[in-house]
Amino acid sequence: MAMVRNQSGYILGIETSCDDTAVAVLSPTGRVLSSIVSSQDRVHAAYRGIVPELASRQHIESIVPIFETALTDAAVSLDQIGGIGVTAGPGLIGSLAVGVSFAKAVALGRWLPIVAINHLEGHVVSPFLNRPWPEAPFAAFVISGGHTHLYRVDRFGSYQTIGQTVDDAAGEAFDKVAAMMGLGFPGGPVLSKRAETGNPSAFSFPRARLRDHRFHLSFSGLKSAVARLWEELPEAEQKHRLADIAASFQQAVIDVIIDRLELVIAEHRLTAVALAGGVSCNHRLRQTVSQKLAGVTVYLADSGYCTDNAAMIAAAAQIRLNRGETSPLDFAVRSRWPL
Ligand code: KG4
Ligand code: ZN
Repeated sequence: MAMVRNQSGYILGIETSCDDTAVAVLSPTGRVLSSIVSSQDRVHAAYRGIVPELASRQHIESIVPIFETALTDAAVSLDQIGGIGVTAGPGLIGSLAVGVSFAKAVALGRWLPIVAINHLEGHVVSPFLNRPWPEAPFAAFVISGGHTHLYRVDRFGSYQTIGQTVDDAAGEAFDKVAAMMGLGFPGGPVLSKRAETGNPSAFSFPRARLRDHRFHLSFSGLKSAVARLWEELPEAEQKHRLADIAASFQQAVIDVIIDRLELVIAEHRLTAVALAGGVSCNHRLRQTVSQKLAGVTVYLADSGYCTDNAAMIAAAAQIRLNRGETSPLDFAVRSRWPL
């Protein structure tokens, strides 16, 4: 069924791939008018990780009120919406199904064009919300709780995977190390806060380089090294050295990220890099990337758009809809969907 009406209108973005329910509205020129994210952190914290069944149930409860708030905050009525973008994967199937079903219902009810968006493309676009897309090819590093992917981007829609993690995602490593130290979930923000008062060179943790896959990353050795140290320390000493351990762990993750960026810049002769995903919120990472990669243009997602949000999905959708791309209403959700 072809669903086309009012191509030049406002864009509605919907994102429910994991544990955040998010809806955003973009102006016809790509300005973010509203970006509402309802975090489920409190629901999952007791389990020290995301429980898929609970995530789906929470999306069901949150999606309509979040949608209404997004329209109200943008001061836009449903009549002004010209198209819809929704995350169709990769992610948790039960979570994706809620956002996609809701988006299809709106598209069907209002006779609107809809486009299925890859969550990772949303992250790649996120540093360019309210900012022009670069002319030259660049490296995009999506570093989150579920993904650690390094892409060469030649233009919107053309992504070559250069490197990725062979085990844990960087954010997952932050979360697991934080959980081990009793810092709660998600651990990244708390751990990085505790690291502020620690010495990043207090402990020398491993920075893995894979001989046959130089662009790939691995965090399991680092995670085990921190765990070994932690378990060997007496309880009083754990408390005393927590900031130093957090800072040293964080530094090891940052060093690996910078190393892979330097490698891709040199080998692909790139002049720009973009960082996105939850871990790119990390202050020390942001500072270090800008300092160490002098001479290269560094694009960082604004802090509100590093973690999962629907503005990045709406932005990717706007580009695709403006090109005339739409998805048929029977499109599926996908747990795996390489970019
Ligand atoms: O992009 P995101 O919201 O969700 C995924 O698509 O995974 O990223 C969430 C991840 C979590 O693992 C969280 O611990 C991590 O990003 N994170 C951080 C920081 N803020 C969030 N990691 C390190 N430092 C931070 N400041
Ligand atoms: Zn994400």
